[in-house]
Amino acid sequence: MRRLVLLLAIAASFPAWAAQPVRAKNGMVVSVEEHATEVGVKVLRAGGNAIDAAVAVGFALAVTHPSAGNLGGGGFMLVRLADGRTAFLDFRERAPAGASRNMYIDANGKATEDSTVGYRASGVPGTVRGLELASQKFGKLPWEQVVRPAAELASKGYSLSYSQANSLRGNARGMDRFADSKRVFLRDGRFYEPGEIFVQSDLGNTLDRIARLGAKDFYEGETAQLLAKDMQEHGGLITLADLKNYKAIERKPLTGKYRGYDIITSPPPSSGGVGILQMLGVLEGTDFAKAGAGSAASVHYITEAMRHFFADRSEHLGDPDFVKVPLTALLDPAYILKIRNSMDPEKATPSSQVHAAVFTGHESNETTHFSVADALGNIVSMTYTLNGGYGSKVTATGLGFLLNNEMDDFAPKPGEANMYGLIQGEFNAIQAGKTPLSSMVPTILMRDGKPFAVLGSPGGPTIINTVLEVAINMIDWKMNVQDAVNWPRFHHQWLPDELRMEAGYSPDTVALLTQRGYVVKRVGAQGECAAIGFTNGWLEGAADPRSGGTAGGY
Ligand code: DON
Repeated sequence: MRRLVLLLAIAASFPAWAAQPVRAKNGMVVSVEEHATEVGVKVLRAGGNAIDAAVAVGFALAVTHPSAGNLGGGGFMLVRLADGRTAFLDFRERAPAGASRNMYIDANGKATEDSTVGYRASGVPGTVRGLELASQKFGKLPWEQVVRPAAELASKGYSLSYSQANSLRGNARGMDRFADSKRVFLRDGRFYEPGEIFVQSDLGNTLDRIARLGAKDFYEGETAQLLAKDMQEHGGLITLADLKNYKAIERKPLTGKYRGYDIITSPPPSSGGVGILQMLGVLEGTDFAKAGAGSAASVHYITEAMRHFFADRSEHLGDPDFVKVPLTALLDPAYILKIRNSMDPEKATPSSQVHAAVFTGHESNETTHFSVADALGNIVSMTYTLNGGYGSKVTATGLGFLLNNEMDDFAPKPGEANMYGLIQGEFNAIQAGKTPLSSMVPTILMRDGKPFAVLGSPGGPTIINTVLEVAINMIDWKMNVQDAVNWPRFHHQWLPDELRMEAGYSPDTVALLTQRGYVVKRVGAQGECAAIGFTNGWLEGAADPRSGGTAGGY
């Protein structure tokens, strides 16, 4: 009897199932790759703060997670300092000066593949400038100390895991079209095996220059000269002037509330923060949570909120420095109420009947997110990317790093789908100097003025829904951070009108949703959330079992 009481007590104190995060008191790093996580933890142990660790992890992932970690791409860093100040650093790629609206449309009016593969697919990279800005503004340690570990990982090499070796082999087609990609990543066809040491000498040299000379080397120095020359020789658009003119931009984070929690999230040119706030707003006034996590009824409500947001995304979001994003209107409680009232509580509304508001007045997980927290209470939530896996597949000649294909995040042909199937309009058309619209949405949740969770994910448009779902799992269903990350996910983006669901949803649930009018498509893993929860003084790191990621704390 006593044993039964004990068992019941234990059962009551844990939710349905409780996967365990990694717990530590002094610092936590969660990233998609173990060497990079280790670098971050070492920097924290050496007295660095969360920003120092994040910068070090950012550079390390450029070496150990080359499909998405990068020097040749861009991203967003969301920071919350222990004293309560927040910052959002936008170091996303910008369209080169020579870019124009129809540059990816051929003489027959068809979209070409140039926005996704090859030298013409790249926007001006921002990562190195962004990481330098973060280090200068908020870091404690000298620049060289946080860049050096990455330079060493590149020049001394590291042992390739099973999934890393597989990923290189699996991406041979495409990369083999470009000489340095073929030489560096495919070893000219003698593919790397798991356990082999992967040395990247060119990248080591580039990182060594950046460590010694700062971002100036990348934007004006030897690296810049070599990159501009390579671009010119291969029909790319990026010039020395584009590199020299590149600026990381500090923006004000977007903030909102949901069930008493404060949400600090990403502003445009991310579409994600607006999406999270609009969808949570729609859901807050419904009873969806009562139906329970994973139930057809809760999936139905959440999906309808997704459908409406993605319709708005297609028309109203773009680079705020070029177009007037109607943020207030998109988050206006009256508009949110209108969306909520238009939802049928039982049935899916066909996307053909849902349109972006009129205001008067497929993916692979090849972006990467990491989260860092230190003992003082500083937090970094950072997502950066080359866009597609291994970006444009081009490795800059002699420099050892891959270039992005972020130009495809614009509407390469307005009104037609880009590589993620997103239909986008004039707000996101290409213009020189403009930033392509993003779905990356590094986010921080607060409760009573204290950090509650740090979240983010790769996955193209699914990023927004992954972050939304993990937040709901923690807030509405009280899952611990690891359960919230592990929980099966789903995605709807208005068009195509299909509900994509991971295998974790039972055939019974799928049948119920089909009866409600959804076209359900089964998919593999959706995203790779790297999260930290904050519970009773503990930092709880949750890597995503969908990735080979790790959480490391001390
Ligand atoms: O910024 C964006 O929205 C995309 N470039 C992110 C790409 C991504 O997550 C790749 N993984 N599927």
